[in-house]
Amino acid sequence: MSKAVFIRNAAQLVTLQGSSDAPRVKGEMSELGIIENGSVWIEDGVIQAVGPDTELAEKYEGRLSEAEVIDAAGKLVTPGLVDPHTHIVHAGSRENEFNMRLQGATYMDIMNAGGGIHATTRATKAAPHEELYKQSYNRLNQFLRHGVTTVEAKSGYGMDWETELKQLEVAKQLNESHVIDIVSTFMGAHAVPKEYKERPDEFVHLLVEEMIPKVAELGLAEFNDVFCEKGVFTPEQSRVILEAGKRHGLIPKIHADEIEPYEGAELAAEVGAISADHLLKASEKGMKAMAEKGVVGVLLPGTAYFLMAESANGRKMIDLGVPVALSTDCNPGSSPTVSLPFIMSLGCLKMGMTPAEVITAATINAAHAINRGREIGSLEVGKKADVTIFNIENYMKLQYSYGVNHTDTVVKNGQVVLR
Ligand code: NIG
Ligand code: FE
Repeated sequence: MSKAVFIRNAAQLVTLQGSSDAPRVKGEMSELGIIENGSVWIEDGVIQAVGPDTELAEKYEGRLSEAEVIDAAGKLVTPGLVDPHTHIVHAGSRENEFNMRLQGATYMDIMNAGGGIHATTRATKAAPHEELYKQSYNRLNQFLRHGVTTVEAKSGYGMDWETELKQLEVAKQLNESHVIDIVSTFMGAHAVPKEYKERPDEFVHLLVEEMIPKVAELGLAEFNDVFCEKGVFTPEQSRVILEAGKRHGLIPKIHADEIEPYEGAELAAEVGAISADHLLKASEKGMKAMAEKGVVGVLLPGTAYFLMAESANGRKMIDLGVPVALSTDCNPGSSPTVSLPFIMSLGCLKMGMTPAEVITAATINAAHAINRGREIGSLEVGKKADVTIFNIENYMKLQYSYGVNHTDTVVKNGQVVLR
C-alpha cells in the first residue's frame, strides 16, 4: 500500500466539484469551487477528503505522521491538467516549414507540395519503434513539467497499417511506462496518402473495411478522428469514416472547420461526436447544433497563433452553450508546444475567455472531451488523485503571467512524481 499524501493549506484549492456527469456550459464554467486554505488527503491513489485545512487536520489528526505532507501555503492547487488533443507520437520536427511560412507559404501549400503531414509521415514511417517511443516519451516528460497528467494521443502519421499500428502500440507502451495517462485515438484519416490522391474513396474504403475494424479488434483506440477539410476529407467521406468507427465501438472526434468553413461542426453534432476540435471557421448554425447535442468544442488557440490565423471564437461558443475545452494540439506542424498553461493564456487573450473559464476548459471539460469526466478533471472524493500545484497564489496569475512555467509539484495516481 502506498503512503498517504496530504496537500495542506493551499492559498486557493480549485476543486471544480460537481460536474462528473456532464461538461460545464455557460456560467457553470466560471464556478471553480475554490477553497481558501484548502487541503486534500490522498490514499491508495484516490482522493479521500477535500476541504478547509482546519477540517482535514482534525479529521486526520492521529495519522499526520504517516503521511507525506506537502505544504501548499501561498500556492495554487488544481486538478492535474488534461490535454484532450495531441499528436505526440511522431518523429522529427518541421522548423524548415516554419521558416517557409514566415516567408509567405501557407500550411496547405506546403502539405499539397508533399510536405506538412506527409513529411512527418515519412519520418514516422522511417523511425524504428524504439526511436518513436523515445522521442514521444521525452515529450511526455515535458508535458508533466507543465502540470499535465493526462494526454490524448492520435495516430495518423502512417496512413498505412504498419505505421498506424506502430504509433498506436507506442502510445500503449507509453501509457504503461510513463506516469502520464495516455488515451488513444485512431486517426488514419489524417491526410490522403499520395498514392491515393486520384482515388481518395479507395483510401476511405481501406480505412472503413480494414483499418478501423482491426484497430477496434485489437483494442488499440477509444476514438476515431478525421481531418474534415477542403482538400483533405470531405464532410461526406468524414461521415462514412466516423459512422464506420461507431459500428466498431470507436467514439467519433473530428478536426472541423480549421482552415475553411466546411460544416464540420454540423457534422459533429449529426454523428454524435464526443468533441469537435479546432473550429476556427465554424458557423453559428454549427455551434448551435453542437450546443444542443453537448458536443465539446476542443479549442486550440496555439495552432491559430502558430499558423498566424485568427483564433476560434471561444467567447461566442460559450455564450451559445457549447461546452468548451482547451488543448495544445501538440504536433510538429501546426503547434509544436507542450505548454498547456500558455494555451490557457491564449484562451484569454485571443478567444475572449475569462481566467476561470479557461481553468475549467483545461481540466473537467477536457476530461469530458476524452470520456474521462467521471475519473479525473476535478478534486473530489473518489476521483483519481491527479493534482498539480503551481507556485502562484491565485488562479488568474496562471494566465496573466504568461509563458512562464509555474508548475511546482505534480501528484499523479496519489504519488508525488514531480517537485
Ligand atoms: O491538428 N489539422 C490537422 N492535423 C494537425 C496538424 C498535423 C501536422 O501538421 O502535422 C492539427 O493541426
Ligand atoms: Fe490535431
